Amino acid sequence: MSRLDSAIRRLTAQRACLDWACAEIAGASGIVLELGLGNGRTYDHLVSRLPDREIYAFDRALACHPASRPPKTHYYEGEISVTLAAFANTHSSAAILAHLDLGAGERAQTALNLEGVIAPLARVMAPGGIVLSDQPLPWEGAAVDLPLPRGIAPNRYFLYGFHKES
Ligand SMILES: C[S@@+](CC[C@H](N)C(=O)[O-])C[C@H]1O[C@@H](n2cnc3c(N)ncnc32)[C@H](O)[C@@H]1O
Repeated sequence: MSRLDSAIRRLTAQRACLDWACAEIAGASGIVLELGLGNGRTYDHLVSRLPDREIYAFDRALACHPASRPPKTHYYEGEISVTLAAFANTHSSAAILAHLDLGAGERAQTALNLEGVIAPLARVMAPGGIVLSDQPLPWEGAAVDLPLPRGIAPNRYFLYGFHKES
């Protein structure tokens, strides 16, 4: 498979998972998080699919396309381990959907990017909330693996569901 093929498959999986999750949360209240704003492509997709949701974006530096810039009130700059931990203090159990796109294309840097992110993310996720990620995430019981949309090969993207309140 060429690198172009691989990129197309990854983006196809990303869009299919985002679309599936946006449909899945219809009718449930809660905010949405984009962790890894980057160029703003997936943020833009979330905004287009979820026009009535509050969407908060996080990155260590603002480098998005001007057309995909979040409002200042909904953008948090800095290491996500720090900004999301502070955010979780005021938005505990508030997020119905979070999308993590923190892969760096290089294993060691990707591991660094994820360091300290899972614990605050678990605090901010609502019961029944969904997390989509370009990387596998170690939840240690807080969330379960969800099946990928039809046609998406295993390990191209990762979906997790937080336990619903009983
Ligand atoms: C693959 S890009 C995101 C692409 C984006 N979702 C898009 O569609 O354009 C990853 C982004 O995550 C940011 N990032 C990665 N790890 C981070 C961390 N620990 N804290 C803050 N930002 C981080 C990087 O700065 C980069 O902009």
